[in-house]
Amino acid sequence: MAAYDPHSYVKPQQAQIKHINFKLNVDFPSKTIQGQAVYHLDKSLKGSLYLDNRMVQIVRIHADGKDLEWELDKQDPIRGQRLHLKRLKGICSFVIDFVTDPQANALQWLDPQQTLGGDHPFLFSQCQAINARSIFPCQDSPSIRFTYSAEVVVPRPMIAVMAAAPQTIQTEGDLNRCRFEMPQPIPSYLFALAVGDISSRELGPRCRIYAESEIVEEAAWEFAETEKKLIEAEKMLGPYEWERYDLLVMPPSFPYGGMENPRLTFLTPTVIVGDRSYTHLVTHEMAHSWTGNLITNATWEDFWLNEGWTTYVQMRIDEILQGRDYAQMKIELGRGSMFADMQRFGMDSKHTKLNYDMSGVDPDEVFSSIPYYKGQAFLEALENAVGRERFDEFIGKYIATFKFQSLSTKAFLTFLKRHLPDAFKAVNVREWIYEAGFPEDAPQTKSKLIDEVDASVAAYREGNLPTSDDVRNWNPDQVNLFLRRLAGVIPLEHCRHLEKIFNLSDGKDYALLSEYLALAVRSGDEEILPRVEAYIEEVGRGFFLRPVVQAMAETAWSRDLIRPIIERYRGCHHPLTVRLFERILDKAGI
Ligand code: BES
Ligand code: ZN
Repeated sequence: MAAYDPHSYVKPQQAQIKHINFKLNVDFPSKTIQGQAVYHLDKSLKGSLYLDNRMVQIVRIHADGKDLEWELDKQDPIRGQRLHLKRLKGICSFVIDFVTDPQANALQWLDPQQTLGGDHPFLFSQCQAINARSIFPCQDSPSIRFTYSAEVVVPRPMIAVMAAAPQTIQTEGDLNRCRFEMPQPIPSYLFALAVGDISSRELGPRCRIYAESEIVEEAAWEFAETEKKLIEAEKMLGPYEWERYDLLVMPPSFPYGGMENPRLTFLTPTVIVGDRSYTHLVTHEMAHSWTGNLITNATWEDFWLNEGWTTYVQMRIDEILQGRDYAQMKIELGRGSMFADMQRFGMDSKHTKLNYDMSGVDPDEVFSSIPYYKGQAFLEALENAVGRERFDEFIGKYIATFKFQSLSTKAFLTFLKRHLPDAFKAVNVREWIYEAGFPEDAPQTKSKLIDEVDASVAAYREGNLPTSDDVRNWNPDQVNLFLRRLAGVIPLEHCRHLEKIFNLSDGKDYALLSEYLALAVRSGDEEILPRVEAYIEEVGRGFFLRPVVQAMAETAWSRDLIRPIIERYRGCHHPLTVRLFERILDKAGI
């Protein structure tokens, strides 16, 4: 049964969408998609049907050639508008003709100069959490799943790719007509589309990489181990149910590290660093193929079921492929972000809980690493209570039981209590799920790689700066951890020294730059300003932008300088990222 979803107008008992047939015409000059969607329902309609809609212009709604009555009625800043189809009598299929708004917040339209090739524009979607409704009217609640087919018309030589099985590409004059079938049912937030001058390379029998041609070779090398990961993931989680696992490298303004669009993960280009050191991102998005895409959070109040489980699985797979020390260090780094986020909200804030009433809360606004790492730690605590073997059996049962379904936190806990009663008793489930902060008896991280960093931090506190030799064999995550442990203010000459020994001056490792630039800003390094500016222009990933922009906004010397920089580069950024900037500046009273 579908749970009550505070982020949707939908009433699942009216009827549920089972299949949608799309015709989409992508028009770059007007930054709109002119679309037609044919909706097929699970039962015939009587009376009303409510759909979610945000800014989509409705041209016509009809069935069997006859117009239907409709109204855009309720309006709300988070949910958007309710599209109310009225006086329905016995139809189980209908058609909506629509046009998206140029400001639709699920879509980013890039000019040619914002792409690597520079000759053609680019379009991509990002629907999670509640933005699919700005592309087409839908039941935009993660508990409702549908299959779809699509015909997408784009200007040549561009092509469309979707989180679906590509069928044919037919050339008609200046246009390419690209066809897709999505045979596995998905919730609306996993609908995904991108359009650009895109090439591809095969990575394995089930894996292919798509990217702009300028970067496709490098990307193919960076992600060459994807098929191997898929095989490892299947050993732990059971058969891969989506047939293909392809990757799409996005333009730099993509606001996330990765997005688990089924059959086609979207990835930030910032992980292509030439040494495969950030491919854990693929492990994470791939793990969502089970935890998230097969078993989906019932509502955004249960988001930790998607991200906590996925982070847990990601760490298990990374442990197999790269060793326990590596995985434990990743957890330590993640916990650092989690504590920073908890402090930002306040340690007692409801946003630090894994599950709470989110009525009136925009999921995008409170997006943080808390559901990831508090969720991961909770699952590890359960594992520790019964041992890995029994926990792995539980994982198998969990996936087999709930695949292609949505799950609420409550239903998960009922399942846990039934199948692992001793874990349920041993771990303070109530505290983990419903209380703020991070439990004191959480599993501790342990790793030689962390110990090395801690020893260097201790030596630093005693007055001994690390030398290039000391850190020669460190991996980027160790450097990251070191910089975070210093957090606060350090002397300027220490900034310079660290910059040198860690090669941070011309690097493109944005994970490190994000830490380093924030540290330098807080430490009063005014000469860093041009680099901060270049960074804000280049980087699109919110997780990496936040620490730098926040440091600028919170430090006396830089406080008045940040707004003009943000204004200058507003146009390069995704609507979600622009909103993130606004929140940081608002909070700092700038
Ligand atoms: N599904 C998320 C991204 C997301 C979450 C988009 C909520 C919109 C709303 C994705 O799987 C994710 O977690 N990405 C992380 C990857 C990292 C934890 C390895 C990211 O983007 O940083
Ligand atoms: Zn995720």
